[in-house]
Amino acid sequence: MSSLIVATTPKSLLSRETLCSAPAASDIASLLTFEYSGNPLCESNSADCVPSPGPNGSPPAPPSKKSSTGAIVGGAVAGILVVAIAICIVVYCSCFKKKPPVQKDPKVNVPREGGVEINQIYEYSVPNKAMPKLAVQEFSFEEIKLATNDFRTKLGQGGFGPVYKGCLQDGRFVAIKVASNAADQGTKEFVNEVDLLSRIHHKNLVGLLGFCNEQKLVLVYEFMSSGSLFDCLHDPYAMASPLPWRTRLRIMVDAAQGFDYLHNGCNPRIIHRDIKSSNILLNDKMEAKISDFGISRDYIRSETGAPPTTLMGSMGYMDPEYMSSMKLTEKVDVYSFGVLLFEVVSGQTAIFKDNFHQPTNIVEWARASINRGVIDDIVDLSLHGQFDVQSVWKVADVALACVDIPSSKRPKMSEVYNELREVERIELESEERQAINQPSGEFRGNSNYSTLAYTHVSIR
Ligand SMILES: Nc1ncnc2c1ncn2[C@@H]1O[C@H](COP(=O)(O)OP(=O)(O)OP(=O)(O)O)[C@@H](O)[C@H]1O
Ligand SMILES: [Mg+2]
Repeated sequence: MSSLIVATTPKSLLSRETLCSAPAASDIASLLTFEYSGNPLCESNSADCVPSPGPNGSPPAPPSKKSSTGAIVGGAVAGILVVAIAICIVVYCSCFKKKPPVQKDPKVNVPREGGVEINQIYEYSVPNKAMPKLAVQEFSFEEIKLATNDFRTKLGQGGFGPVYKGCLQDGRFVAIKVASNAADQGTKEFVNEVDLLSRIHHKNLVGLLGFCNEQKLVLVYEFMSSGSLFDCLHDPYAMASPLPWRTRLRIMVDAAQGFDYLHNGCNPRIIHRDIKSSNILLNDKMEAKISDFGISRDYIRSETGAPPTTLMGSMGYMDPEYMSSMKLTEKVDVYSFGVLLFEVVSGQTAIFKDNFHQPTNIVEWARASINRGVIDDIVDLSLHGQFDVQSVWKVADVALACVDIPSSKRPKMSEVYNELREVERIELESEERQAINQPSGEFRGNSNYSTLAYTHVSIR
């Protein structure tokens, strides 16, 4: 950080400071006046001219022609000496006098982050740009203990560490992630997450409310009371009341909007790199928000050709092209989003065991069915046919396009978002038609399984 401050300190400020450290300007002016005038006092026989005493302290001899020549020479020597001393004083003062602190650019902030300075992670990505202050609250570890009631209610466990439910003093519920250890890896992830989330706000991104850096690294998030999409789809308890198709669509539209914002709306643009159903969280209104930017990296760094750090992502969601080439583009996220769409359509996990207990990749499995022109094999049975078949086919088509190889053929996240909105419109219109036809009954869908062999239209 110090290097950043020095790099951004204007040269003019430094030179101004050097001048301020020297003696007062009037002092210098008087010294310079002395230099310019040589030794005029002695030449003019002014009363101010005090001749030097004689040897042994004897009174000075009366002035004579010879002695006046000596006085001139002596005066000149004295004058030169005084000027030399004055120059020495100026040089000494400007070099050794303690400088007043350089006034920091108010936009430059060096938060305390376990020895890691926030701006260090941006040295390459945002050159010469001062980082604004973190917008999050810093908690003490005591406050964290109080909020979680001594870590009483565990919500889940992830790679970062356990997640606890908490309540802040102002009554807000929060989810509190506590790092398992404070090793380097955790520290970097922690700093990355705090820094990114504190700057990026969107209705479809989980809000970071604060952090703690005492004893343990802790992140405080807004509480998402309906848990993760993974839990809603795959948890045995949740499966008792499966998510309706319309709700699944709404969740995917929300998520697509969040990812579109990460890719195209925010600055710096973000590639998430770990899109999966456990990172899509739901609030009490079942609105979806994206979590976990801990392993995100800013877009610019990858575009500048800087080598990617390490391969990151989760099993079953990772783009095979990215795995072999290590080339990071936003299409890596698009692939994972395609996997997520198949998960939502089928209710299967990204890697699941088939009827023969063999591990199966959801993409290969779904693609095979779709290419045969039927999707009844892959649609979640727990939906009980309550969906519009056209909307399911369209989602399957979008998913297929998202996992296409090569990645250049995949749609952009903005296109995915628009397609899903269109699908949602189709679904809602279908439900309205059904409601008119069956005014007393609930929506039954039009997914008679014999109609699922629908000729799908590619979105490309
Ligand atoms: N803001 C939140 N509100 C409510 N529950 C949350 C919140 N954040 C996380 N959780 C819960 O904690 C669980 C673990 O989350 P976490 O992000 O730590 O791990 P993960 O997403 O499962 O895996 P990974 O570490 O690979 O991201 C989630 O599945 C979810 O149930
Ligand atoms: Mg997570």
